[in-house]
Amino acid sequence: MKPLAVYVHIPFCEKRCGYCDFVSCTQTQNIDAYLENLRAEICAFDFSHYAVKTIYIGGGTPSLLSPKQLESLLNCLPTCNGEVTLEANPNSLTEVNCKAYRRIGINRLSLGVQSFDLATLRSLGRLHDVKQAIAAIKLAHKYFDNVSIDLIKDIPEHAFVVPPQEVLAMIKHISIYSLTKNDQCVLDTDEPVNLPPEFIRYEVSNYARQGYESQHNLVYWTGGEYIGFGAGAHSLLNNQRFCNSSQIMNYRRENVQERTAEDIHAEQVMLGLRLRSGVALNLLPNKEQELKMLAEHGFVKITPTHVIATDAGLKVLNQLWLKLV
Ligand SMILES: C[S@@+](CC[C@H](N)C(=O)[O-])C[C@H]1O[C@@H](n2cnc3c(N)ncnc32)[C@H](O)[C@@H]1O
Ligand code: SF4
Repeated sequence: MKPLAVYVHIPFCEKRCGYCDFVSCTQTQNIDAYLENLRAEICAFDFSHYAVKTIYIGGGTPSLLSPKQLESLLNCLPTCNGEVTLEANPNSLTEVNCKAYRRIGINRLSLGVQSFDLATLRSLGRLHDVKQAIAAIKLAHKYFDNVSIDLIKDIPEHAFVVPPQEVLAMIKHISIYSLTKNDQCVLDTDEPVNLPPEFIRYEVSNYARQGYESQHNLVYWTGGEYIGFGAGAHSLLNNQRFCNSSQIMNYRRENVQERTAEDIHAEQVMLGLRLRSGVALNLLPNKEQELKMLAEHGFVKITPTHVIATDAGLKVLNQLWLKLV
């Protein structure tokens, strides 16, 4: 059985945020019809050669779905004994639903907090305030051991606010993205954020307490296989990349891309540079000169088996990558 990560996309939100380029809409009256297509897509996939290691239900705002609707999706998937994440917006998380999420097998919540500063939340057009964000984190923490939050930094005219101590005590994982314009994809933060040392920067935009690194995202970052269901979802299977189109009510699989050995190598080097675990040295034969120079300038650290980008290196990831591929 081959390990597999499963992503399920729920493209509905109460309100669209101006900065967001993820596939989503506010036509929540279409949720049931969308779920019917989604269940059909999942049921048509042959899972027989795969062991599902992680499930990630992302959006959009998956917490807009009732637990019954979520359960109907999970029932289409093989049992997963690993991480099962649900993305939730702070303003749509309720106690009744938290209890039900646990019962149906969700074991990790990822909350889109975005900021701990009210003016920043307002400028982003978020529906929650700081008090509601903290209340949602408390609720999530009451029912889930593994709670993550998303924050956005580099917002013009708004300084980044580090999560308060009471929040840090309740969470296990933080993703911190740099604000991108609508026509770009979500970029990574280059400057490290000043968090307590128990939050280890294990990937350029992600910090976790030891043992709470996102198992699902690590599959993406280590070149593992994943299948994405739903509008705009991406997949990597049998050395092919493909994605679904983004027409929410009528999405189709498109863009099948065969990967060459060079593509795979270039991707492995980039993904490795983003990770604290680094790039295996055996992926970089004939790069001794470049590595020596980068190490002398403090951009990488070289261990007997790996090359690891330092904080200074993470600020110039693209340049490091170009030197090493
Ligand atoms: C797919 S969104 C879903 C999260 C959830 N709907 C919410 O808004 O709370 C996942 C995360 O991507 C990040 N994000 C979305 N648009 C972004 C942008 N333009 N720049 C940086 N981060 C962005 C936000 O941190 C968000 O929580
Ligand atoms: S940031 Fe979240 S709530 Fe806002 S539009 Fe994007 S997916 Fe929807």
